[in-house]
Amino acid sequence: MTSFPSDFARSLPKAELHVHLEGSVDPATMLALAQRHGVEAPANDVEGIREWLRFDGFPMFLDRYFFVCGLLRDGDDFARIAEDYLRATHRQGAVHVEFHVSSSYHIVEREADWSEILEGVIAGCERAESELGISSLLLPDISPHLGADAAHRALDVVLAHLHPRVTGIGLGGPADNWRTEDFGSAFQRARDAGLHTVSHAGEHGPAWEVRHAIEEFGAERIQHGIGAVGDPDVLSMLVEQGIACDVCPGSNVALAAVPSLEAHPLPAMLEAGVTVTLGSDDPPMFSTDLLTEYENAWNLAALDEEGLEQLATNSLVDSFAPVDRVEQWLS
Ligand code: ADE
Ligand code: ZN
Repeated sequence: MTSFPSDFARSLPKAELHVHLEGSVDPATMLALAQRHGVEAPANDVEGIREWLRFDGFPMFLDRYFFVCGLLRDGDDFARIAEDYLRATHRQGAVHVEFHVSSSYHIVEREADWSEILEGVIAGCERAESELGISSLLLPDISPHLGADAAHRALDVVLAHLHPRVTGIGLGGPADNWRTEDFGSAFQRARDAGLHTVSHAGEHGPAWEVRHAIEEFGAERIQHGIGAVGDPDVLSMLVEQGIACDVCPGSNVALAAVPSLEAHPLPAMLEAGVTVTLGSDDPPMFSTDLLTEYENAWNLAALDEEGLEQLATNSLVDSFAPVDRVEQWLS
């Protein structure tokens, strides 16, 4: 196999549509945030934090993810992490990023001031955009493990603070309660307010989650969606409805959603004709970044340069960025 053409991959204008803002915090920043807020850090140095970020599965990851969420206390914290991530991903050729933000956690669990958080994130996005030209939008996530009432409470607050950068809502966290609680009505409210809708599905769970996210939540894109390969009808649904999957191979390996990189179903998804974009999910938590995910895809699916270019193009076309900007990037 020819080696990964990293300069070529970097040079491709691309969007990252699947990254969690709170999961983008690097270990050094985690330590700085803990010190800033007088919180006992889980380790004394960056190496120790890296050790702490080794997971035996999804529940252990979520425990640490929410610890990091809890280190983010004020608008300045959010401005800093948004700007830092946009700078880092711009160096990899990203022209546009859509950040998932764990709104249920901040609004419902922590009862934090969402307007301050939002102002902070937007300030970070604006600083990066004015200096580097990188575009960014936000996807506040609701978390199903808190139940549908909590999803609606989080949504009340999100909808009360709409801003042009808030482009849609997502659903993330453990895929609990999907069949027993009505999250579809929350997605409907978001759509009625003019927002896009996306959902995690088929990450650790099977193909029915992907079908459910499309049929019940009206998801326009699926985060992960790798479980879809278990059901040809669900694969066809993705293809026929032109619903892209924002796939993160490094995350799937780190959280044991797949037994190994070699066993990842990305080739089968591409073979079936599913539109795929690549994301890094929670990059420092999985020792990855956007370009590494392009390298993972290159190795996994035996891509050529045209294949890399197609993935980058998909990420622009399937983004929620304004059409005129997408056309500029594509040209
Ligand atoms: N929130 C942050 N990372 C996530 C993941 N990999 N799956 C679902 N929710 C998440
Ligand atoms: Zn995710």
